[in-house]
Amino acid sequence: MTMTRDTSLRDSPGTTAPGAAGDSGKTAEAGAAAAVGLEKIAVRFRSRRRDVTALHEVSLDVAMGEFVAIVGPSGCGKSTLLKLVAGLLKPSAGQVRLNGEQVNGPRHDIGYVFQRAALLEWRSARRNILIQAEMRRMPSVLARARADELIAMTGLTGFEDAYPHELSGGMQQRVALCRALLHEPPVLLMDEPFGALDALTREQMNMELNRIWRETGTTVLLVTHSISEAVYLADRVVVMSPRPGTITEIIDVGLPAERDYTQTLARPEFHEATGHIRDLLGAASAHD
Ligand SMILES: Nc1ncnc2c1ncn2[C@@H]1O[C@H](COP(=O)(O)OP(=O)(O)OP(=O)(O)O)[C@@H](O)[C@H]1O
Ligand SMILES: [Mg+2]
Repeated sequence: MTMTRDTSLRDSPGTTAPGAAGDSGKTAEAGAAAAVGLEKIAVRFRSRRRDVTALHEVSLDVAMGEFVAIVGPSGCGKSTLLKLVAGLLKPSAGQVRLNGEQVNGPRHDIGYVFQRAALLEWRSARRNILIQAEMRRMPSVLARARADELIAMTGLTGFEDAYPHELSGGMQQRVALCRALLHEPPVLLMDEPFGALDALTREQMNMELNRIWRETGTTVLLVTHSISEAVYLADRVVVMSPRPGTITEIIDVGLPAERDYTQTLARPEFHEATGHIRDLLGAASAHD
């Protein structure tokens, strides 16, 4: 398992991730190095009863190892955007790239954490994690070793053989996270993964995710309704407009990668970013 994180990638000005198209010259050299590239994306859903434009002219590059959070009102196309990156959905216009390759169908080199943990009730925590290996036909010795590492890393040791109903909501979410990380995906997509958790467990999961991200160097795209979660975790926060979803602004958080929870929440950069995002979204369209 690769446990090193090349922070130089994020810290040197020449390689920091570019923003949306038009974002003051940052996009120019993006293409080659970007882990995720969205270029002038549009998504329209057409049916006999309805014609919905979910996304319109969305361009975004996410650098390798970068953590990008996406916030925006309900129905603005956040989940649609993750599905595009995973290759579960095709854009009506524009191009999606993953690690430099055009996405043409479902991708296996990603990890996907859904809004609910979606565990199989009849399988233990470890066997839920190992589903990933079975689906990918990973060598079982390797998969088990990796599962054990992740179990330890996420504080699940001692609960490997517990069934989902014997685990707390936070623990179930950690199992889902282990499952998404088992095959060491270079890109992790997370769709409101902590929405169902109580505030304290959510805080703990946020701290854990920050640590895992630093240790694995995975590129993360996180959709959340929590402005403070977005700012605490991300390098950049993408703020989207109501449908048809466009990118209103990309905020550079400007906090160090390692983030002590209490200290980070007390920092001026944190307040500046959360305040600005709250203004952009408007009081009615987001809740914290
Ligand atoms: N498969 C589909 N068929 C038709 N319309 C769809 C489909 N998937 C999404 N939509 C529509 O596209 C728009 C964006 O949906 P999406 O799920 O991406 O929103 P979201 O930003 O994730 O919202 P939420 O915050 O509520 O999860 C919505 O209007 C939704 O009704
Ligand atoms: Mg959604």
